[in-house]
Amino acid sequence: MQGTVFVTRRIPQPGLDLLAYAGLTVEVNPHDRVLSREELLAGVRGKDGVLCLLTDKIDDAVMDAAGPRCKGFANYAVGYDNVDLTAATRRGLPVSNTPGVLTDAAADQAWALLMAAARRTVESDAFMRTGKWQGWGPMQFLGVDLVGATLGIVGAGRIGTVVARRAAGWQMNIIYTDPRGKPEFEEEFGARRVELDQLLREADFVSLHVALTPQTHHLIGKRELELMKPTAVLVNTSRGPVVNEAALVDALRERRIFAAGLDVYEHEPAAAPGLLDLPNVVACPHLGSATIRTRTAMATMAATNLLAMLRGEMPLNCVNPEVLEGQKKKEMM
Ligand code: GLV
Ligand code: GLV
Repeated sequence: MQGTVFVTRRIPQPGLDLLAYAGLTVEVNPHDRVLSREELLAGVRGKDGVLCLLTDKIDDAVMDAAGPRCKGFANYAVGYDNVDLTAATRRGLPVSNTPGVLTDAAADQAWALLMAAARRTVESDAFMRTGKWQGWGPMQFLGVDLVGATLGIVGAGRIGTVVARRAAGWQMNIIYTDPRGKPEFEEEFGARRVELDQLLREADFVSLHVALTPQTHHLIGKRELELMKPTAVLVNTSRGPVVNEAALVDALRERRIFAAGLDVYEHEPAAAPGLLDLPNVVACPHLGSATIRTRTAMATMAATNLLAMLRGEMPLNCVNPEVLEGQKKKEMM
């Protein structure tokens, strides 16, 4: 296969190898950082395809810069809110994501945050490291229990389902919200589908697993946080803007909820003013899929998707398949 593709950041080698072995010239962002807007626009220019990240805003200007040779964008993430899908579809450009391969890793990260927030792991670790511990005490760092608690899953998709499955070890009650009823989810977990307000009132742990869309932007704001129990923990491994982060800072500061475990932020890489000064927040730098095996699987998946686009075939993980279906129809006419 001939052509040149642009990879917006170094990814695990097996993904780059797949592209190179196919005969492509592979241009990779030489810097160990997110490209500036100008660098991104220059990098995609004249390329046959682009492997991009959730930190790249792929909009009309980037698609214009890529130009008419470009056959699509393979996003190295399951979420693709960074891509203007309407613009891509209008231009007949396929876009793909990396679902499935990161489901377990993302669910584990949600659990790591949930447990660390519940048991104040990070706060007490900092206490140890600064030499403040004077010996065991009956009232030190009291947390909240998991066993028998109610887990509220917001979005019962792939990741939400695996998070719920992990809860069996603590005999948790599962409630969930989802635009659609999920009979299999209800059957496997004895789960009840409720409205978001009811979930927030009842849950001891609220874990967010929705995609970022105009409908889920600030899904959790001041009003929603006020519905939560003062002993409740909020976990967000989805996308930062799903939560109004300033409102969350207020709720945590005023102890209106017990704690939060966060992997994502509204304005990454920044955190809302005051957030990181709070003891009752566990904050990770967007590591949901960050295991060696998962990131490698994402690399080969994104590369495989990009190769399909360059061949004019439907990528396995196309998020706007109508683009290529339409093309096939035109060819047949
Ligand atoms: C990570 O956040 C992803 O969407 O893969
Ligand atoms: C994403 O993979 C989801 O459906 O939860």
